[in-house]
Amino acid sequence: MVSDKVFIIVRILQFLMSNIIEEEMRSSSVIKNMSVLDFDYMPEKLFHRDEQLRNLAHMFKPTLSRIAQNVVIKGPVGCGKTVIAKKFCTKLVQLTRENGNITEYVHINCRKRSTDAMALLGILNHFDSRFPDRGFSVQEMLEVLRKQLKRRDAQLIVVLDEADALLKKSGTNLIYSLTRFSDEHSIDKIPISLILISQKDVFSMMDSSSISTFRRSNLLSLNKYSRNELLDIVQQRMDLGFHKGTVHEDCIDLIADISSEWGDARFAIELLWKAGTAADQSHNQLVIPEHVRAAKAETYSIVTESKLKNLDRHQLITLNAIAKRLKIDNTAYVNTGEAEKTYKIICEELNEKPRTHTMFWNYLKEIENAGFINIRISGKGHLGTTQLISLPDIPAEIVQEKIYSLLT
Ligand SMILES: Nc1ncnc2c1ncn2[C@@H]1O[C@H](COP(=O)(O)OP(=O)(O)OP(=O)(O)O)[C@@H](O)[C@H]1O
Ligand SMILES: [Mg+2]
Repeated sequence: MVSDKVFIIVRILQFLMSNIIEEEMRSSSVIKNMSVLDFDYMPEKLFHRDEQLRNLAHMFKPTLSRIAQNVVIKGPVGCGKTVIAKKFCTKLVQLTRENGNITEYVHINCRKRSTDAMALLGILNHFDSRFPDRGFSVQEMLEVLRKQLKRRDAQLIVVLDEADALLKKSGTNLIYSLTRFSDEHSIDKIPISLILISQKDVFSMMDSSSISTFRRSNLLSLNKYSRNELLDIVQQRMDLGFHKGTVHEDCIDLIADISSEWGDARFAIELLWKAGTAADQSHNQLVIPEHVRAAKAETYSIVTESKLKNLDRHQLITLNAIAKRLKIDNTAYVNTGEAEKTYKIICEELNEKPRTHTMFWNYLKEIENAGFINIRISGKGHLGTTQLISLPDIPAEIVQEKIYSLLT
């Protein structure tokens, strides 16, 4: 008798649950096309990057005659490095084909494939998706690549995205070997062009022979996006991804305002997507600024973490020193002298040798470029030309917490 009752209650609960799931799955969404909001989506039009695309085209003109080129693309997070390389290479493949040449293009993410063997395997998988991931040495894999390209009579463009991860873990060997393919002195010259992408200065991570191959002039530097540039990028994603009239006009301005502190298009698009999701969850047919604010709160912590991973140890200690001072003093600004003192104390605590004053200044500049801090000359009430540092966006406590886990 009792078990019958339990059975009925369980069935009722199951019924209610399945109703909740069905209701949620079938409920209407402000988002019309989710794939447009994906990070890997490549829009038809790239805003405010015409000049950079033109520069790339100029640098790669010789590939139309099968002469390999090497280029480094550098710039801060979310400034369009990956998307610009993808767009350009896809177009180049098409153009060279029209010219009667075959160009193969492979895009490798070196954070996911950070050893020579893994990166090379990624390249070989482009030609043969079943190429075994074990049993071949790097040298043998290079030979297989040579055969693949010869068989197709093709030139190759390899994009090594986030190349600093590969350089850090495995040095310049692979890069050097790949550039040797197109060396005039090699037996059968096969044009392999390389594009190295990084937020960091990859030249400083290369040995002199690789640097000379990558002549310093072949550098495309991208800047972070301004507020108005971000506005265009977000507007485009909204038009493509959302149903008409479902996003309050203030939202796009607010998203551009928030993300302009980093100049990061990925952050801007993520805010738009999360704001849309927040509207859906509250069964709202209109995305309003409150949804953007909720999205900002949710996104911040994840974004901060991934950006911190791009800083090196002493940059992290410097940023930690700033956060620590701001929190202890409970002020909006810390001057550079105090920040340096605290930097030295933290170095001691971590058994690290503090770097020179000049190096400390470089760290400050790099952290500023990465979008974590603002530095300005002090106004009234401060002596001399002291510079004041602020942490405009992220609570000092969160910064300290996250850095602590990376440093220890
Ligand atoms: N000029 C642009 N026009 C339209 N969309 C853009 C533009 N620039 C970037 N985006 C979009 O912004 C997002 C981030 O761009 P991308 O991934 O190229 O940045 P990134 O510089 O490679 O960043 P990271 O250093 O973190 O790898 C992508 O979804 C991309 O499509
Ligand atoms: Mg990228």
